[in-house]
Amino acid sequence: MTDRISAAQYVSAESLALPRATGAGFSDSAAFIHPDPGSTIIMISSLMPNYKRADLAFEQGEGVWLTASDGRRYLDFGAGIAVSSLGHGHPKLVKTIADQAAKVMHVSNLYRIPQAEKLADLLVKNSFADSVLFCNSGAEANEGMVKMIRRAQFENGHPERTRILCFDGAFHGRTLAMISATGNPAYQKGFGPVVEGFDHAPFNNTNTLRAAITPETAGIIVEPIQGESGIKPASEVFMKALRAVCDEHGIYLGFDEVQTGVGRTGKLFAHEWYGIKPDVISIAKGIGGGFPLGAVLATEELAKHLTPGSHGTTFGGNPLACAAGTTVLEEVLRPGFLEHVCAVGEAFDGMLRDVVKRSPGVFDDVRGMGLMRGLHCVPPVGEVMPLVTAAGLLTVGAGDNVLRLVPPLIVTEEDCQEACKKLIEAAEAYVAAHKKEQENVS
Ligand SMILES: Cc1ncc(COP(=O)(O)O)c(C=O)c1O
Repeated sequence: MTDRISAAQYVSAESLALPRATGAGFSDSAAFIHPDPGSTIIMISSLMPNYKRADLAFEQGEGVWLTASDGRRYLDFGAGIAVSSLGHGHPKLVKTIADQAAKVMHVSNLYRIPQAEKLADLLVKNSFADSVLFCNSGAEANEGMVKMIRRAQFENGHPERTRILCFDGAFHGRTLAMISATGNPAYQKGFGPVVEGFDHAPFNNTNTLRAAITPETAGIIVEPIQGESGIKPASEVFMKALRAVCDEHGIYLGFDEVQTGVGRTGKLFAHEWYGIKPDVISIAKGIGGGFPLGAVLATEELAKHLTPGSHGTTFGGNPLACAAGTTVLEEVLRPGFLEHVCAVGEAFDGMLRDVVKRSPGVFDDVRGMGLMRGLHCVPPVGEVMPLVTAAGLLTVGAGDNVLRLVPPLIVTEEDCQEACKKLIEAAEAYVAAHKKEQENVS
């Protein structure tokens, strides 16, 4: 008999660690023995199994809080991985989206799109950039950034300059080109051949930088703070060296601000902290406040080479996404908003340092800027995070054994205090559980 299990049953079964079976034609990772012993039913979920999901579903969001289907409330310091910049259910953003949806959601880039023009004007007015290209995600924005760099070198008489220098520990997304740019074999396994044209050098190392530039280098791409690999800020010396090296060699400097951009660190863009100007940046995540939107911001020198027909995407810059992005950006640019992010971020940093002091053996370091913080864990982060969730705080794991804390930018100091209480509660639960385990052993 063939039967299907629903996507929801699949997640529940996985979180309960029901026994798995390998049946003919079914992979071990996607197959389950049906709880009814009479019939062995082996099925893949209707949702592909590429995400490891917690058995938690949220029905309602309000500000920095999410309510799960069982009614339990969670303080959301993950913000959909640094996306929900204005929190959940922000009245202005909800109204913008509802109003725009009722007027017109989508028209093609075959026509003028006033909502995209407005958002582009606002981004240009408030950044180094002269021109903006809209798209739908971070990886797609990075692809656009790479294409723009290559095209500009080509048009400027350097067709040999095609290679992009990236850095160890980077994360630039999951498209075929971006898993090459990321360079981490874990993201590439089984997806080869990898896309050619990306080199890697040690992050934050000015000694090895110059040797990594070749006559074929077209540009450099770097995250001002490496997010996925454990909240690692670039040093000021390194960032300034990148600018200098690009100027010396006539190559372009691109920042991947997909996670750090749109106020996350307390400046509109994280590179502003370093006192240098890029040639191009990518943004996504926070700009839509939860609505999918990405963008590439560039100087005229680069942007002018994207002539009609050279690049495009059906949904990029549609009225609904750009209306949402404009409301988010107007809020972030409202007087006092970024100062609020800086002040709460600083206070949160102090509170997290106190959490470290009070949780020896569980947390031992705090990293980051503004409202992009990481707590380094002593035990595996995968063991700590479920206890943090159980305490009612949503966070995101990151590389280097780090627990990532990237709350909505509207978070208050009181919310941060509440989050820290929950972190301490989780640390105590971890210590208690391990004490019990040791007692049972001895
Ligand atoms: C720095 C950085 N670049 C690119 C991406 C990819 O963005 P997306 O998942 O929207 O494609 C991410 C996502 O986490 C990111 O953090």
